[in-house]
Amino acid sequence: MSLLEIRPTVPADLPSITEIYEHAVRFGTATFELVPPDLAEMTRRFATLIDGGFPYLVAALEGRVVGYAYVGPYRPRPAYRFTVENSVYLRPAIHRRGIGLQLLQRLITECEARGFRQMIAVIGDSANAASVGVHSRCGFQMIGTHPDVGFKFGRWLDTVMMQRALGEGATTLPADDLIAVQR
Ligand SMILES: CC(C)(COP(=O)(O)OP(=O)(O)OC[C@H]1O[C@@H](n2cnc3c(N)ncnc32)[C@H](O)[C@@H]1OP(=O)(O)O)[C@@H](O)C(=O)NCCC(=O)NCCS
Repeated sequence: MSLLEIRPTVPADLPSITEIYEHAVRFGTATFELVPPDLAEMTRRFATLIDGGFPYLVAALEGRVVGYAYVGPYRPRPAYRFTVENSVYLRPAIHRRGIGLQLLQRLITECEARGFRQMIAVIGDSANAASVGVHSRCGFQMIGTHPDVGFKFGRWLDTVMMQRALGEGATTLPADDLIAVQR
């Protein structure tokens, strides 16, 4: 394979990321967005995640951004603060070359280093074998399917829930001095 680099995203990567996501919104069912967000909106989303301490990575092949992956909060309420939800998108031309797997593995490592304990994938469309496959390869377990919760391109769409423990998972308590007051 040509030279692949997986690294933290910088603002100069955002036009490529916006383009990759635009294709996924317009032609795919992995995301339930219907209107592609523009560069300004993608920049706002990126800034919010970085400010929140979440990892946001790109895969660059010979210097060209070909994919990206990030996590954000699974849900906003504070007891969920050790659980993240991930996203990973590649340019269609480079699917099934191991890049999604490497991005997701690195994302897991980054999340473990930050002390997160569970990662959840909410996979749009139960027909998305590539996403189910890459998450399985990364140790995610199947939790279940929410049938028919989306509607896009004239058909009802499921979401598939997969989950993976990070680091020590639930076997130890987190290093978090807010636990006592929030229990
Ligand atoms: C899902 C996605 C990120 C996977 O990335 P990828 O680089 O194509 O996948 P990889 O080549 O790393 O595949 C890793 C493993 O996943 C599984 N896999 C990948 N594509 C698959 C497919 N089409 N069918 C079945 N299993 C597949 C295989 O186990 C594969 O390992 P193998 O090639 O040694 O058999 C990529 O296809 C993508 O961007 N899809 C569109 C957007 C999307 O669905 N994102 C996920 C949102 S939850």
